[in-house]
Amino acid sequence: MGATTGFTLSCAGQTIPAVGLGTVSDPRVDAETTRVAVLEAIKAGYRHFDSAFVYGSEKPVGEAIAEALRLGLAKSRDEFFITTKLWCTFAEGDQVIPAIKMSLKNLQMDYVDMYLVHLPLRLTQQMTKSPVPREHIMPIDLKSVWAGMEECQNLGLTKGIGVSNFSCKRLEDLISFCKIPPAINQVELNPFWRQKELMEFCKAKGIHITAYSPLGAHGTKWGDNRILGCNVIEEIAKARGKTTAQVSLRWVYEQGASMVPKSFNKERMRQNIDIFDWSLTEEEINKINQLPQRKGSTLASTFGPHDLVLEIDADI
Ligand code: A2P
Repeated sequence: MGATTGFTLSCAGQTIPAVGLGTVSDPRVDAETTRVAVLEAIKAGYRHFDSAFVYGSEKPVGEAIAEALRLGLAKSRDEFFITTKLWCTFAEGDQVIPAIKMSLKNLQMDYVDMYLVHLPLRLTQQMTKSPVPREHIMPIDLKSVWAGMEECQNLGLTKGIGVSNFSCKRLEDLISFCKIPPAINQVELNPFWRQKELMEFCKAKGIHITAYSPLGAHGTKWGDNRILGCNVIEEIAKARGKTTAQVSLRWVYEQGASMVPKSFNKERMRQNIDIFDWSLTEEEINKINQLPQRKGSTLASTFGPHDLVLEIDADI
């Protein structure tokens, strides 16, 4: 499982390495930059990669893994935990299997380890501009989409299935009819968005949380400097001989969540998996738990302030 400590997923019985590499970049970088970064991450010990159809990172992730296997950096495909996601334009029952097959082709793989419903939303056509015209945004028919997801797992196209950006209410709805429960909910989680209610709900239901934007997505249009520039976290970091990023990631780990920090920088990606040989004191945790709460990424900032979108934003 690489250099990182993992969590066992209660629904899928898989082990997920606690730290994976996020592969969404904003502004978008070319595929070669992503391929090189993923290969570098494999050399640094990463075995968990978070991808999505809409990130455009499936191909470079797949190429880097194929190359790593050729170079003998890993023995087999099974050493990796690969996540990808069903984009909203395919969020319809009969489109799920074709969508995962397309993703697998991009990744040059027979299966992924985790397939997630990217958002509780359907788009009638590919996003060509932001904000998205209201007529292209529809509610998701979760029953038919989830049946498609279950079929993906039954066919062995993915080892586990889950969701992303789902609130307690939507999870409750899903749990009420699913045959295979979601193994993972991937959501924004960091010291400034601690998601107390959702964390407790998911723990009770055996749904593992993977944190996106664990560093506040600094540099992207949906993120900012509130974590990396936070005095409280910086003070703790200085006292412990760690970086601000490491303190934030360690806090996420101590919540029982895995995480997918994005760094394409060799030194920073190494730093981000080096969080396992120390722990935060109770006093440090209390200081972090008093930081003001503010959600960083909103769907409205990408899709526009449409009723359906605002409803989802208010929910999670
Ligand atoms: P870079 O890719 O240049 O390292 P998140 O994981 O919350 O989405 O945040 C990603 C942002 O944080 C990226 O801008 C990334 O830049 C930056 N970043 C990642 N790791 C670190 C680190 N250890 N120290 C400082 N900035 C980091």
